[in-house]
Amino acid sequence: MIVLSLCDRTGAMVQPWAEAGYKCICVDMQHEGVSQVGNVTFIGADVRDWLPPLGQYRIAFAFPPCTHLAVSGARWFRDKGLSKLAQAIDIVDRCRLICEWTSAPYAIENPVSTLSTYWRKPDHVFDPADFTGFELCDNYTKKTCLWTGGGFVMPPANRAQGLGAPDDRIHKAPPSPERGDIRSATPKGFARAVFHTNERQGSAA
Ligand SMILES: C[S@@+](CC[C@H](N)C(=O)[O-])C[C@H]1O[C@@H](n2cnc3c(N)ncnc32)[C@H](O)[C@@H]1O
Repeated sequence: MIVLSLCDRTGAMVQPWAEAGYKCICVDMQHEGVSQVGNVTFIGADVRDWLPPLGQYRIAFAFPPCTHLAVSGARWFRDKGLSKLAQAIDIVDRCRLICEWTSAPYAIENPVSTLSTYWRKPDHVFDPADFTGFELCDNYTKKTCLWTGGGFVMPPANRAQGLGAPDDRIHKAPPSPERGDIRSATPKGFARAVFHTNERQGSAA
C-alpha cells in the first residue's frame, strides 16, 4: 500500500511508514527529478500538474505552502495582490483533490491561516510539544492546524514529563536562506504519533 505526502521536502511525515515497510511517495517542487531512499520515492513536481499513480493508498498528507495564507503575514496581504492568494488557494485545493481521490485517511496541514475563512475551520490544532513523548527534541510551540478526512484519527497529546516549558524557536530562528525550510519541517514526534494511532487503526479494521 502507498503512503503519499504532498509538498513534502523532508519526508519526515512518511519516515515511520517507510520504516514499517510501506511504499512512500513525497512530492515537492524542491526535489530534483525522481530519487529513491529506502522505501521513499522523492518526486520533483508541481502538485498542480502531477498525477498520482494508480494503486491502493493507506494514508495521505499534504503541507501546502502557507506564505500567502498564514495569518502571521496578514500585514503584507494587500501588497502581494490577488494572484498570490489565488495561487496559494489553488495549491491547497489541488492537495485536497488528490487526498480525497486516494479514498484513504488524509490530513492537510497549515499554520493558523485564512483557510479557516476561505474553506472551513480546521478539524484539529496542535503544537509540536504535544508529542514530545515520541520525540524529546520537539519541545517547542508552533500552533499547527489540520484539515482531515477519510477517517484520519488525530493522535492524543503525549507529552514527556520533566521537560519544562516549550520554547519559541520557530519565531526566534535567525534570518537565513534556509529559514523557511527549517521552520516548516514536519516535527518528527507528530509524525510518529500519527503513525502510531493510524497504523493501529488500519490493522484493527
Ligand atoms: C510549508 S512547506 C512544508 C514542508 C514539509 N512540512 C516538510 O517537512 O518538508 C511547503 C513545501 O511545499 C513545496 N511547494 C510549494 N509549492 C509547491 C507546488 N506547487 N507543488 C509541489 N510542492 C510545492 C515547497 O517547496 C515546500 O517544501
